[in-house]
Amino acid sequence: MSEMNKKPVGITETILRDAHQSLIATRMPTDLMLPIVETMDKVGYHSVECWGGATFDASLRFLKEDPWERLRKLRDGFKNTKLQMLFRGQNILGYRPYADDVVDSFVEKSIANGIDIIRIFDCLNDLRNLQEAVNATNKIKAREGRGHAQIALSYTLGDAYTMEYWVSTAKKIEEMGADSICIKDMAGLLVPYKAAELIKAMKEATRLPIQLHTHYTSGVASMTYLKAVEAGVDVIDCAISPFALGTSQPATEVMVETFKGTPYDTGFDQNLLAEIADYFRPYREKCLETGLLSPKVLGVNIKTLLYQVPGGMLSNMVSQLKEQNAEDKYEDVLREIPNVRKDLGEPPLVTPSSQIVGTQAVFNVLMGERYKMATKETKAVLRGEYGQTIKPMSQEVIDKVIPGEERITCRPADLIENEMDKLESEMKEWKQQDEDVLSYALFPQVAIDFFKYRQAQQEKVDLTQADTKNGAYPV
Ligand code: CO
Repeated sequence: MSEMNKKPVGITETILRDAHQSLIATRMPTDLMLPIVETMDKVGYHSVECWGGATFDASLRFLKEDPWERLRKLRDGFKNTKLQMLFRGQNILGYRPYADDVVDSFVEKSIANGIDIIRIFDCLNDLRNLQEAVNATNKIKAREGRGHAQIALSYTLGDAYTMEYWVSTAKKIEEMGADSICIKDMAGLLVPYKAAELIKAMKEATRLPIQLHTHYTSGVASMTYLKAVEAGVDVIDCAISPFALGTSQPATEVMVETFKGTPYDTGFDQNLLAEIADYFRPYREKCLETGLLSPKVLGVNIKTLLYQVPGGMLSNMVSQLKEQNAEDKYEDVLREIPNVRKDLGEPPLVTPSSQIVGTQAVFNVLMGERYKMATKETKAVLRGEYGQTIKPMSQEVIDKVIPGEERITCRPADLIENEMDKLESEMKEWKQQDEDVLSYALFPQVAIDFFKYRQAQQEKVDLTQADTKNGAYPV
């Protein structure tokens, strides 16, 4: 094989973010990550995904850790590897849309504390909700030469999601000034031959590198990667084997071995990968023993392919029905989900649109009348507060749920006043670093609880042992 034909596939390792978010509710603490960072840094990953998504919330809420401190420690350890985060467009890492000044500040602080690649997505694939984060990243890139804006399209199935849709959206993303595109298949719906078709068409439409992110949930993910790589995808997201498969990603070692000796050979050293897997394996065993890792999430959930609904959404639905003693309505709700989705303009099913559609479907079935009761979030979607959906929403449902109300057609954040000053004034007694304002912006109550905890720890500190350089205090 000539050098000319080589096209090594890049691998993003997800063990420090999506893998543990998908399998153990994002509970991996920083102390468990740090000892293996030096080894991981030698592999040659395209990037290591280690921040964003639910890691920020889980750090503050459950682990009583400062997420910014985690990021700085990882940055210190990863001397050669790019660090990647997941960012929910105008919602940042929270659950409401924020003003542009908060988005700008969050992007700036993420990069300043160590992030290289920001993967930005929107639950409606409304590109207007992604533009500010892309602009903010590009501004820093122009100034400091660091920062990469990747736009992720939430992959989904439905009448609206034709090949023309994906291709024309890829072109728009290139025009928006993004550095790369990710196809983000959170439910494992992208099957192998469809992936080949999709990647081929998108590669023809854009010069931007294309990364593929999927989950093993439905059992097809490794085959999907194989076909996608053959079709020209540039980077795939994988997890080191002890935290791979199930609702997580395909295993890194397996994909590396698959492409060995082909034009797509990663060149990774399997001995290094084995060292990393050996490091995480006892932690996996411990998580299985304590129940943090449930064998239930490790199998193949074929229902996700049959119903084209993410696995997490199905389990939410089951627990909602259980609470109402209405488990016998499971099939009815499953049939109602696609109807609600159509009423709401056929959005992708990803946080938070998946919860909104799922909960409304449960209401519609349990109340015995469709939209007799609508959730606050359903109303907000119908008003256009989340942005524009790919198809028009049902006029009949709009008239029933929000009769006579005004609807938004502009970019929702255009209606939100800058809010950094106000946020800072609300929390200034707790502020120890600029980043604290952003923690508060995203999770006000959780952040204040954390700040109180932090102060209590600091007050009983033995100052002779304080590590002032890292801001870490022994307790
Ligand atoms: Co994911």
